[in-house]
Amino acid sequence: MTSFDRSIKIAPSILSADFADFGREIQAIEAQGADWVHVDVMDGHFVPNLTFGPPLCKAIRPHIKTVMDVHLMIAPVDPYIDAFADAGADVITAHLEAGPHIHRTLQAIRGAGCKAGLAINPGTGIDGIEYLLDQLDLVCVMTVNPGFGGQKFIHSQIDKVRALRAMIGDRPIHIEIDGGITPETAPLMAAAGADVLVAGSAVFKGGSVSNPAPYGENIRAIRAAAEAAR
Ligand code: DX5
Ligand code: ZN
Repeated sequence: MTSFDRSIKIAPSILSADFADFGREIQAIEAQGADWVHVDVMDGHFVPNLTFGPPLCKAIRPHIKTVMDVHLMIAPVDPYIDAFADAGADVITAHLEAGPHIHRTLQAIRGAGCKAGLAINPGTGIDGIEYLLDQLDLVCVMTVNPGFGGQKFIHSQIDKVRALRAMIGDRPIHIEIDGGITPETAPLMAAAGADVLVAGSAVFKGGSVSNPAPYGENIRAIRAAAEAAR
């Protein structure tokens, strides 16, 4: 990963990609301007959906030239950290709600050589983050309930991001937002202080590996709306 900055970064979620063609989908979104590649890992237990695990991450890693941003929607987390690190994750994000020992989890993520992210569900406040700030490289504010792509943005999270941005101050911690991000919702969050914008359906809609230009148009529309709101 390059050094820390607060520029707007678009992180397409491959949850909305063609699951039979991840390698070419990743090459297409990066060629069309993606800054990071967001990988949504779900266990059918912490969230009511199943996606993929470390072997898939390892298989797609050679196709990712930017940043592999792995969002773990799994519980427990700790037994799998080394496997996702070995698979080549740059950032590993675990949920605050995934277990009682998130401090230990964040230490283990950094210990495995990755950037440590903490995700919080829409119903979770930021109070629990205060004593974790020194352990964090990223906070992911969920703007939908995790589990599925294509859900509606939850507006109450705007105030949360604003409060989180104030809490973070000058610390080199990214604020990522995840769920329901479009050219309409991205500027609300960019203005509140988010810098990493995850988007699945809004990036992949209208395009394919054989017709990737819409991916670029979608990415540019989200980025332009977010940057104009800064
Ligand atoms: C939700 C995932 C998101 C999701 C975003 O559980 O963490 O990354 O795929 O999808 P859209 O942009 O379609 O809401
Ligand atoms: Zn995600």
